[in-house]
Amino acid sequence: MQIDITDLHFTYPTGVEALRGVSLHIDPGEQVAIIGQNGSGKTTLVKHLNGLLQPTRGTVRVGDWLTGEQSVAQMAARVGYVFQNPDDQLFKTRVEDEVRVGPLNLKLPPDQVAAQTEHALHLLGLLERRDLHPYDLTPAWRKRVAIAAVLAMNTPIVVLDEPTTGQDYATAQELGQVLDALRGEAKTVIAISHDIDFVATHFSRIVVMGQGQVLVDGAPERVFAQADLLAGAYVEPPQMTRLARRLGMDTIVYSVEGFVDQLAAQSAAEQAGPGAAPRQ
Ligand SMILES: Nc1ncnc2c1ncn2[C@@H]1O[C@H](COP(=O)(O)OP(=O)(O)O)[C@@H](O)[C@H]1O
Ligand SMILES: [Mg+2]
Repeated sequence: MQIDITDLHFTYPTGVEALRGVSLHIDPGEQVAIIGQNGSGKTTLVKHLNGLLQPTRGTVRVGDWLTGEQSVAQMAARVGYVFQNPDDQLFKTRVEDEVRVGPLNLKLPPDQVAAQTEHALHLLGLLERRDLHPYDLTPAWRKRVAIAAVLAMNTPIVVLDEPTTGQDYATAQELGQVLDALRGEAKTVIAISHDIDFVATHFSRIVVMGQGQVLVDGAPERVFAQADLLAGAYVEPPQMTRLARRLGMDTIVYSVEGFVDQLAAQSAAEQAGPGAAPRQ
């Protein structure tokens, strides 16, 4: 299901102009990361996708629906939204009940509710924690419950606001595997993240926001090549991009694999002799 955001402006009642002319087209099945400094408008933008916020100006279209013409409850069947803070989302006393709420609210048949709940618990590694009280879990695990609760609704579009907050390297990798699973199910995923290495590893499209506008939008190699623009947006490029730059590599790399490939290519060129690849 495609998303079309056209010249979106949003001003909070306090007068803060949080979005100043955002246009984005997202194809079905795309996985898009949104990055940018705190306060650049990322959360405000994604809250327009499920109708939690309505444009001050411009339009947001999800499939054939204009968000302004649908209720938040109707939008919930198309766009699942995982809040930045799980405590804004969780209210049941048992993990499994929390995960079941969404599909129940969608009024799905009982066997489908059960199957989707089970699938989401499995994806987030929660099967053994299904009977626990969400508040007996660490914040990182509560975040997973919040993600499972949204995935259980099986919406074509999933929005994750800071999914890696509170996760360590290993659990962030596991969340990456969840993203891979969603890719396999052809879901559209839009994730806000401060974890640039996570973004570089798992997303093929990155949108950089600054002061309520899109500063750059494209593939990682295109985005990470714009060092000055990223510095202006207070975004630090991935470790591998910085290392490669320090070593004078002339291609943009952003993953360990990319770095190793580039290193191998350079040393092969050097071994081919000075005529083949002059050293700098
Ligand atoms: N509920 C709100 N009321 C007033 N201003 C807000 C509210 N939420 C966010 N803002 C302001 O809107 C701007 C964008 O915020 P936000 O979308 O939360 O940015 P981000 O998610 O990129 O950190 C900021 O200046 C922020 O202070
Ligand atoms: Mg935010």
